[in-house]
Amino acid sequence: MSIKSGIPGQLKLRPRADRQTDRAAAAALPAKMTARGVKVFYGAKQALKGIDLDIQENRVLALIGPSGCGKSTFLRCLNRMNDTIEGCRVEGRIALDGEDVYGKAVDAVQLRARVGMVFQKPNPFPKSIYDNVAYGPRIHGLASGRDELDEVVQTSLKRAGLWAEVKDRLREPGTSLSGGQQQRLCIARAIAVSPEVILMDEPCSALDPIATAHIEELIDELRANYTIVIVTHNMQQAARVSQRTAFFHLGEMVECDDTEEIFTNPRDERTQGYITGRYG
Ligand SMILES: Nc1ncnc2c1ncn2[C@@H]1O[C@H](COP(=O)(O)OP(=O)(O)O)[C@@H](O)[C@H]1O
Ligand SMILES: [Mg+2]
Repeated sequence: MSIKSGIPGQLKLRPRADRQTDRAAAAALPAKMTARGVKVFYGAKQALKGIDLDIQENRVLALIGPSGCGKSTFLRCLNRMNDTIEGCRVEGRIALDGEDVYGKAVDAVQLRARVGMVFQKPNPFPKSIYDNVAYGPRIHGLASGRDELDEVVQTSLKRAGLWAEVKDRLREPGTSLSGGQQQRLCIARAIAVSPEVILMDEPCSALDPIATAHIEELIDELRANYTIVIVTHNMQQAARVSQRTAFFHLGEMVECDDTEEIFTNPRDERTQGYITGRYG
């Protein structure tokens, strides 16, 4: 059958032999994080049914799939945000650089500095632009003195592509910014504590197309320094920003492969059904 109709327009197709070579090379890349047999329950209800997934360093992994399939649940396992949800239980193993993030010696607050998160709706603190970014470095004691803190704030805002727009208004509230700027502020806030992994849960869903394009460009730049996992319900976005894509369905991870491969040559008919818009 032809799945052409499901191929997002932006995806440039390369010769199949090239893709296969890249695919083999990509599969051999070291994993920054690994999930093995991850099951999640909310009370008696099982939301994830044993997820095995490798998250490779300095790549963008997109998680796609129909609403309610467990994308956000899985993302929250990676930095233990599910710990804060009452009645939520996680089984299996998740490792960061080979170390179990659910291990007894691991402090969840420290973990979340290494594995940062950006949410669906921009959620700046009710503080100034400066203090939003300085918040993490302050509580983690990452800057000694004012000059160093100024430096961290400036670097983080630059990396988030926001510095030029806010450098003359750092004392204004974060909430005075536009939605797209607020989301970049939240990215700057995540970056300020020098994370290794950044998790993004539908980070553009509340933004207009121009702000979305800005964030997508930013994600591509950030990949050089961070490992990124992004949940998106927008397949064009997954195709534009990610190198790897994992398709989730009813609490299972159906397949994970190079993004190009998932969108042009999916192995599983459930993936085919989703990318061709038969459901979801
Ligand atoms: N806090 C919660 N309490 C109970 N059930 C939840 C909670 N969060 C998610 N779920 C359920 O877990 C399943 C997966 O949800 P979720 O991870 O939010 O999916 P997705 O992000 O793919 O839309 C859904 O059936 C959802 O209703
Ligand atoms: Mg979700």
